[in-house]
Amino acid sequence: MRTTGAGREETADGPGTAVVTGASSGIGTRYAERLAEAGWDLVLVARRAERLDEVAGRLRETAGVAVETLVADLAVPEDLARTAARVAAEDVALLVNNAGINGYGYFTETDPALLTRVLSVNVTALTALSRAAVPGMLERGRGAVVNVASQLAFAGSLPPDPLPRRAVYGGTKGYVVTFTRTLAAELADTPLRIQVLCPGLTATEFHLTTGEESVAGLTQQVHAEGGMPVDEVVTASLAALERGDVVCVPGLDDPDRALERLVAAETGMRAVPRP
Ligand SMILES: NC(=O)c1ccc[n+]([C@@H]2O[C@H](COP(=O)([O-])OP(=O)(O)OC[C@H]3O[C@@H](n4cnc5c(N)ncnc54)[C@H](OP(=O)(O)O)[C@@H]3O)[C@@H](O)[C@H]2O)c1
Repeated sequence: MRTTGAGREETADGPGTAVVTGASSGIGTRYAERLAEAGWDLVLVARRAERLDEVAGRLRETAGVAVETLVADLAVPEDLARTAARVAAEDVALLVNNAGINGYGYFTETDPALLTRVLSVNVTALTALSRAAVPGMLERGRGAVVNVASQLAFAGSLPPDPLPRRAVYGGTKGYVVTFTRTLAAELADTPLRIQVLCPGLTATEFHLTTGEESVAGLTQQVHAEGGMPVDEVVTASLAALERGDVVCVPGLDDPDRALERLVAAETGMRAVPRP
């Protein structure tokens, strides 16, 4: 038995169970494939049952791991509670909070119900599932949580080309970055690994829907905007998990220097209270 970089113990039975939300397409499906290749048993969470069944059947066959599917709409409290109960089980050694929707549209023109859904999936569900996972992981002395944010958490409002039509999405991803970094600091003296993954534009079907409804069809699609291949995003995340990096920005030149400068800027922003 040995402890790997993902903060897990490898036994003859494999590294344990990983829960991946949003596993029916894009980055989530690729996490599932890569983790199965590495011997993880899986719990795959999303709304599209047929898509999950396809991924699960294929991975049982090719990787020989146990794969459960958990069909859930993470914006629905009962579904979120069912998912949280599964995440809290003692076999779970890795949680990948990947499910996310964009709700793109001008703020004043977007249905308030869609904006609430963006907050529910991107913020409320991710927080609730992290809360469900971490106490048991601490008791067992092993475990890891990966929360998927976005480079828009940092760059959404930057001139000269501030990205319009995504204020709430950018806000949710800013939450994911701050939440995860702060939680990682709180857990720094524990064996747990906590990561926030900040992809840039990635080649998935993400921009084919605002997230109210899933993209139809059994075959995964890719939006026309281009982007980094999903495999490179997941490779960066898994490598960062091995290293114990808290912030992972795939494709960033000289990430150590960029993060040092970010921390220096944040430290400079901390005002000294004066009477
Ligand atoms: N693609 C990009 O350019 C990009 C860039 C930065 C960050 N990201 C982030 O990367 C993550 C994965 O996105 P992706 O690019 O892989 O897009 P994607 O292919 O659209 O995948 C999104 C996943 O989330 C699931 N999902 C959506 N709403 C859900 C809900 N209410 N309950 C449960 N599952 C739900 C979807 O499955 P169902 O529809 O079957 O539920 C799907 O599996 C997201 O958090 C996104 O914000 C993406």
